[in-house]
Amino acid sequence: MLPVKATVERLPGLDERFIKPLPAMEPGQFEQWAALLKQRTGMRLPDNRMSFLVTNLGMRMRELGIADFQTYYDYVTSGREGVVEWGHLVHHLTVHETRFLRHESVLALILQHCLPADPAGCPTEPLGIDVWSVGCSTGEEPYSVAMAIDDRMRQLDAAYFLGMMASDISRAALATGRVGTYSHEKLRDIGPRWLKHYFTETDTGRFQVSEELRKRVCFNHLNILQVDDAPIGKMDIILCLNLLIYFDREQRIQIADTLAGHLQPGGMLILGVGELLNWEHPHMKRFPYANTLAFQHQ
Ligand SMILES: C[S@@+](CC[C@H](N)C(=O)[O-])C[C@H]1O[C@@H](n2cnc3c(N)ncnc32)[C@H](O)[C@@H]1O
Repeated sequence: MLPVKATVERLPGLDERFIKPLPAMEPGQFEQWAALLKQRTGMRLPDNRMSFLVTNLGMRMRELGIADFQTYYDYVTSGREGVVEWGHLVHHLTVHETRFLRHESVLALILQHCLPADPAGCPTEPLGIDVWSVGCSTGEEPYSVAMAIDDRMRQLDAAYFLGMMASDISRAALATGRVGTYSHEKLRDIGPRWLKHYFTETDTGRFQVSEELRKRVCFNHLNILQVDDAPIGKMDIILCLNLLIYFDREQRIQIADTLAGHLQPGGMLILGVGELLNWEHPHMKRFPYANTLAFQHQ
């Protein structure tokens, strides 16, 4: 086998900086990065996440050819270029794990308590349904909800308008959601009927969400800690799943309070199970439903 140096010399275009190990991160540097992440996204990074930070910063630093953490920190925190760079970095530092139909009990709650169950329950005018998926990642969550709602309304042969807002702090994740094209593997939990109705196979063997459904989901870049200035209307359903876990309790409460203020009377706020304990709000009442943490606006 060739020594690493010799391999580098033989591969045109591969720069030595891409394989050089990064220097160790000093505890002070970890604190500096953790503070920046907390200040800008609200996420807390416990001490045992040093290797996560080093790996993910390292990936981006290698792409840029930057060899030490301090130089990169200075770059990210200064000037116009730093703002743009932060937009890339935040994608590497946030967790985007998600999948279609991940929250079955949440979908069941929505079908059972937020939508008409039979034609007699449908209003004479088309039903308007406004949903907000907060921390939507790459789109699987909002598309799952949109499919479930559309399927029910089709079965009832009822006219409806769905306004689905899907927001996230990662522009890269949002871009994936907007295109709405996924590998076959990602669709493993979707049954053949929905697969046929809501997806089209592309030339490259991937599957794209139908145009009709994509048009109903509006992906927006939004930091959940900065929603105050955003022009967001009142929602019937707000989902905030697997996001609050990254925040401390004070911020979780602040976020839940903010989201409660964006609900219609009767609207439903659905959080991840165990993500916010003992939360009280003058207009919100716990809505008991198996395997969910839901609150209804009174
Ligand atoms: C683990 S994913 C959850 C995806 C989806 N809700 C689910 O349950 O499958 C968390 C998402 O929250 C986003 N996120 C993290 N901090 C955020 C913030 N301050 N504002 C908005 N989104 C944020 C991340 O970019 C990521 O896509």
